[in-house]
Amino acid sequence: MSQTVLALQDATIQFGGLVAVNKVTFDLNKGDLFGLIGPNGAGKTTCFNLITGVYKPTHGSIKFHGQEIGGLPPAKIATRGICRTFQNIRLFSSLSALENVVVGAFLRHRTPLWTALACLPPALRETKALREESMRLLEVMDLADEAHTRSSDLPYGKQRRLEIARAMATRPELILLDEPAAGMNPLEKEDLQSTVKKIRDNFDMTVLLIEHDMRFVMGLCERIVVLDHGEEIAHGPPDAIRNDPKVIEAYLGEAHS
Ligand SMILES: Nc1ncnc2c1ncn2[C@@H]1O[C@H](COP(=O)(O)OP(=O)(O)OP(=O)(O)O)[C@@H](O)[C@H]1O
Ligand SMILES: [Mg+2]
Repeated sequence: MSQTVLALQDATIQFGGLVAVNKVTFDLNKGDLFGLIGPNGAGKTTCFNLITGVYKPTHGSIKFHGQEIGGLPPAKIATRGICRTFQNIRLFSSLSALENVVVGAFLRHRTPLWTALACLPPALRETKALREESMRLLEVMDLADEAHTRSSDLPYGKQRRLEIARAMATRPELILLDEPAAGMNPLEKEDLQSTVKKIRDNFDMTVLLIEHDMRFVMGLCERIVVLDHGEEIAHGPPDAIRNDPKVIEAYLGEAHS
């Protein structure tokens, strides 16, 4: 039987007069590759912000393994096993690729980050183990050759992959990817599709991703929710979504606006 990992029930948030996310309801089962799509301003990133604790829902519930997480502080939600990447890349630009991933790994670790950065004795052994583990994640993301490159010197597509490696270093059970293919060329997108599948299969993860590139989403996700003006207008497998008149209308409306 499938196991529900994340359940949104009527999740709602209002900013002043704007209901940015309106009664959104969907479930993610363990191992899902799940897409969240919709035109600009539909409320997709705001959904991620609700799930990760950046915002508290004004109404409704968000459960992770049956426990309410709506409104918990982001750090608490992260330690339960949910992590994310950002629509606008947020890396430590002056650190190398490897150091960025090590920082991610420290988030779930006992040794305080400052002890490790100062290389004080208690941190030395752990630091070595974390560096090795981080190196393995860079290999998974095809970034091993760039381990010692400053993250700001990496091409854009590789920075996006590095963000995923860093998020994975927290050993999440559920990973939220906000437009992971943005700015990538078609070849990089194809590579990313197989990498995301590999992450799900080899690391036993559940993936929720936002993406504007329909080819990317339809080729990767098994189920998709479509938002428009904060509301869920469709929910189903890619084929049903592709042919749904409400979805077509929402995207056509965007094209003509
Ligand atoms: N903190 C906030 N205060 C006020 N309005 C907000 C806030 N955060 C988001 N919004 C509004 O909520 C709506 C949904 O924004 P959101 O960023 O979730 O859209 P999106 O679907 O991610 O769009 P895009 O595809 O452009 O990234 C927008 O109208 C946005 O301006
Ligand atoms: Mg967004």
